[in-house]
Amino acid sequence: MDASNALPASLDLTGRRALVTGGSRGIGRAIAITLAARGAAVAVNYARGEAAAREVVAAIEDAGGKAVAVGFDVSDADAVAAGFKQVTEALGGLDILVNNAGISIDALLMRAKEEDWETLQRVNLRGTLLCSKAATRSLLRAKASGRIINITSVVGEQGNAGQTMYAATKAGVIGMTKSLAKEVADTEIRINSIAPAVIQTPMLEQVSQETIDYMVSKIPVGRTGKTEEVAALVHYLSSDECGFATGACFDISGGRATY
Ligand SMILES: NC(=O)c1ccc[n+]([C@@H]2O[C@H](COP(=O)([O-])OP(=O)(O)OC[C@H]3O[C@@H](n4cnc5c(N)ncnc54)[C@H](O)[C@@H]3O)[C@@H](O)[C@H]2O)c1
Repeated sequence: MDASNALPASLDLTGRRALVTGGSRGIGRAIAITLAARGAAVAVNYARGEAAAREVVAAIEDAGGKAVAVGFDVSDADAVAAGFKQVTEALGGLDILVNNAGISIDALLMRAKEEDWETLQRVNLRGTLLCSKAATRSLLRAKASGRIINITSVVGEQGNAGQTMYAATKAGVIGMTKSLAKEVADTEIRINSIAPAVIQTPMLEQVSQETIDYMVSKIPVGRTGKTEEVAALVHYLSSDECGFATGACFDISGGRATY
């Protein structure tokens, strides 16, 4: 490799072990591929869509990287415990967790269904909490430095009509990030969240075109974000470059979108 293209050591993830939840498609897929390209061995988690997760693993391996597909539902405590065991055995440990798995169920609150609220809480909040606890426990036991990156949303910061339930779960993730980061701030564990505006992914298939057009109209750069742009920020937050930032929520919204 041309030395001028080499990453600075502080951005190189060689030797690090990363788990990306919901890594089989969308933003998670781009994060898994980017972290692997920067040297990390990556566990690509999926709940459904094993074939898609295996495709991501194959893409990483074809590029000379190391990856493994690990299926578990992030909202199921027993499955998370078994999944983390599988990941740490396959990779030899865990240094980086990216809590990316998430769902969006949109409805004006007056029309919202109770069961949708339960489902959103289980995946977006409980899932992030369970995985964060498992990763933090493992990092503390190993007395290791580590990074946790939570994918929240600009909707959790700003709110958006029709997304009251989703906003509540994503705001919860921001609070969780701030608090857990403080609980372990005297270690080498750094925990941050990322708040994207609309990113072009399959998740948008569940959102009406009218809603997407409205959100894009509120993004100063005037377009949706790319999965690779989110992945680049996750890479920085996963690296040694990110040593002093913890408990923060990083905006990636094309100029502070306000819906
Ligand atoms: N796409 C956007 O515009 C956007 C904007 C802001 C935030 N986000 C957030 O980014 C993250 C990724 O979104 P995306 O757009 O790539 O969505 P996506 O639907 O394309 O991908 C989400 C992934 O999470 C997985 N998943 C869902 N429930 C799971 C569970 N219980 N256990 C394990 N995996 C599960 C899905 O199978 C899927 O692979 C989500 O947390 C989402 O809320 C997305």
